[in-house]
Amino acid sequence: MDRSYANAAVLVFVIVNLSFIVRADDDDDLKNGASYIFGDSLVDAGNNNYLQTLSKADIKPNGIDFKASNGNPTGRYTNGRTIGDIVGEELGQPHYAVPFLAPNTTGRTILHGVNYASGGGGIMNATGRIFVNRLSMDIQIDYFNITRKQIDKLLGASKARDFIMKKSIFSITVGSNDFLNNYLLPVLSIGARVSETPDAFIDDLLNQLKGQLTRLYKLDARKFILGNVGPLGCIPYQKTINQLSENQCVELPNKLALQYNAKLKDLVAQLNDNLPGATFVHANVYDLVMEVITNYAKYGFTTASRACCGNGGQFAGIIPCGPTSSMCTDRDKHVFWDPYHPSEAANIIIAKQLLDGDAKYISPMNLRQLRDL
Ligand SMILES: *[C@@H]1O[C@H](CO)[C@@H](O)[C@H](O)[C@H]1NC(C)=O
Ligand SMILES: *[C@@H]1O[C@H](CO)[C@@H](O)[C@H](O)[C@H]1NC(C)=O
Ligand SMILES: *[C@@H]1O[C@H](CO)[C@@H](O)[C@H](O)[C@H]1NC(C)=O
Repeated sequence: MDRSYANAAVLVFVIVNLSFIVRADDDDDLKNGASYIFGDSLVDAGNNNYLQTLSKADIKPNGIDFKASNGNPTGRYTNGRTIGDIVGEELGQPHYAVPFLAPNTTGRTILHGVNYASGGGGIMNATGRIFVNRLSMDIQIDYFNITRKQIDKLLGASKARDFIMKKSIFSITVGSNDFLNNYLLPVLSIGARVSETPDAFIDDLLNQLKGQLTRLYKLDARKFILGNVGPLGCIPYQKTINQLSENQCVELPNKLALQYNAKLKDLVAQLNDNLPGATFVHANVYDLVMEVITNYAKYGFTTASRACCGNGGQFAGIIPCGPTSSMCTDRDKHVFWDPYHPSEAANIIIAKQLLDGDAKYISPMNLRQLRDL
């Protein structure tokens, strides 16, 4: 045999094997999958830092307990990690899902998860208009469509499709602002209440959301978790402006949330039946947060009514958290970080139930089971 042919054959053999090894190593970081996170300030990880908006959290003391930034604000609307951060960490993802709008959200980092959530954002385009700017769900999904094409480029079409269908969890935390910063705004301002009954508004929300989830499905999303809307009438803001006592919650916001949540549950069942190969997991955030608020002492909290960071009224619930706010010292003893958002301590309890809980709070399976599906 000609020597040079033999050498060439060996060389080809080595290269083929090396490329196999390199490729296997390259994708080792993908084995625990990724989170693609949509929603509002409950899960925003910094998108609003890049918007001209009145809804901002990149000011101190937000993030004071966020280790990855040494306690500096990141745009998260809490003192530490969001539920999305904690869930990603527990599922073994290499780093927190990065804000879509951050300039360095490029290259392979998008394979470890991207966050599209935006403070003030809602299901409806008009929601959150009072903040001037925010990303509504329609726009967040437009942005995922951009990411989707980038994943194709990084992995090749077939591998990309497989990665998105099998390894990616799509989490959707939205709806609160459609009530707080749309329907419940005073009638004479810009709320939808001017023209719609609660039933009609809620039906509109669910129709719109159904279209949005179907768009994600068309982009190959298969593993979804949908949180329902929490007890909006129990947040320090609502309790303060309605001058309630410690153990009361405002009725109308809770009633609207429950009405929406009942229909959301039906929508989840319907999508599970109608979209082949998709799994929609329903998270009963309302009951879970209500349980923590009602039995706060059992969970190690000293208050479920007073914001740790904020000012105004008896629950520090009027002026949002910022550099001039008063701040509690025992941050992990407060269910609420600010007038609207849970503390990291509360987020940890909620995330734990989403990850490992049973049908009381998460069904038809929990997030660890969804990942391993
Ligand atoms: C992107 O930039 C932010 C802010 O400078 C930094 O905290 C983060 O670690 C960077 N992310 C990546 C993936 O490089
Ligand atoms: C919301 O805005 C998006 C993007 O601007 C647009 O495509 C969509 O049709 C709007 N949806 C509604 C219901 O107006
Ligand atoms: C994604 O973007 C392409 C254009 O680049 C468009 O044709 C397609 O309809 C979009 N898909 C969804 C589900 O929005």
